[in-house]
Amino acid sequence: MTHVNRQPSLEPDSDAPWDDAAMNEVDLPVVRGDEGQTNDTEAGEPAATLPHDQDATDEQESSSEQTHPGSQSTTRPRPTSIDALIRFVGVHKAFGRLKVLTGVDLDFEAGKTTVILGPSGTGKSVLLKHMVGLLRPDAGEVWFEDKRIDDMRDRDLVEVRKQFGFLFQMAALFDSMTVADNVCFPLVEHTKLSKPDRRDKAEQALKMVGLAGIGEKMPGELSGGQKKRVALARAVVLEPKVVLYDEPTTGLDPIRSDVINELILALNHNLGVTGVVVTHDIASARKVADRMVMLHGGKVIADGDADAFEQSDNERVRRFMNGEADVEDLDLIRGGFGH
Ligand SMILES: Nc1ncnc2c1ncn2[C@@H]1O[C@H](COP(=O)(O)OP(=O)(O)O)[C@@H](O)[C@H]1O
Ligand SMILES: [Mg+2]
Repeated sequence: MTHVNRQPSLEPDSDAPWDDAAMNEVDLPVVRGDEGQTNDTEAGEPAATLPHDQDATDEQESSSEQTHPGSQSTTRPRPTSIDALIRFVGVHKAFGRLKVLTGVDLDFEAGKTTVILGPSGTGKSVLLKHMVGLLRPDAGEVWFEDKRIDDMRDRDLVEVRKQFGFLFQMAALFDSMTVADNVCFPLVEHTKLSKPDRRDKAEQALKMVGLAGIGEKMPGELSGGQKKRVALARAVVLEPKVVLYDEPTTGLDPIRSDVINELILALNHNLGVTGVVVTHDIASARKVADRMVMLHGGKVIADGDADAFEQSDNERVRRFMNGEADVEDLDLIRGGFGH
């Protein structure tokens, strides 16, 4: 584990056709159990799940930037062993001159919840987007099960994306659609279920997040915490193997945040969902993580369980866990006051 502290300079990107803003539609996996508990109210923001629709129309979109020129996606033997459901091998990603990922090697084990920690702008969301082919690496490989996906065509990615539920950081519910229609959306896009069956699935998913019976409401009638949970219901309505949570508790008070934590745990324990959670919320990380990974300067600088993070003698990790400013930042501030 190394680190590089380069703070990237922003750069517009040509190869990121999908941005948070652009990704509100998505698809979501379905649910079977019911685990709902919780009642809430609160504000936060909405979320969504995987994009799929681009896949449907792959020809428009399988153009240039989504696919590496000349590459074909294939199913090859996975590089190595263990139960890695998702694997990053030497992944590099830059936007113009901004180097975001500078050699990420990571395996995500099936059935576990991995929390990705790191300062803002360090590439956590970028990392998640590589897992579903929303971004492509400049170098390196990304694998899902036995398939290499970084060079896969969009049309082939559709199947991969169905295995993922994505709770986006910024994405929203469709305000003009009822809650039930929002949750049904991925089912309409990706299944041939009848309308009554879709309704049943949606209701099950809503029940699972503790919101049974609210299907006929409009998103505008919900609190922020409820919207987040509806987005989570949408993210799991297709019964994904993996759920990616991008800052799922941001904007929620501690109680509502804990409801989300409990849902992450319930999805993992009851449905065996493999979770990847990006968060700044240390309390949430401690609660849900089987494993924590810290990104900094484009690389993984720490990887271990919560205890290892607590006891880390890496200054950067220690400061992050304690919510303390970085030494460099402190120096800059002191410099600014002429000390
Ligand atoms: N599509 C894009 N085009 C250009 N720059 C991007 C794009 N996506 C992310 N970035 C930049 O990459 C860096 C890492 O972003 P991100 O992964 O969103 O950070 P975070 O760790 O806060 O989630 C940021 O500087 C961000 O502005
Ligand atoms: Mg982010």
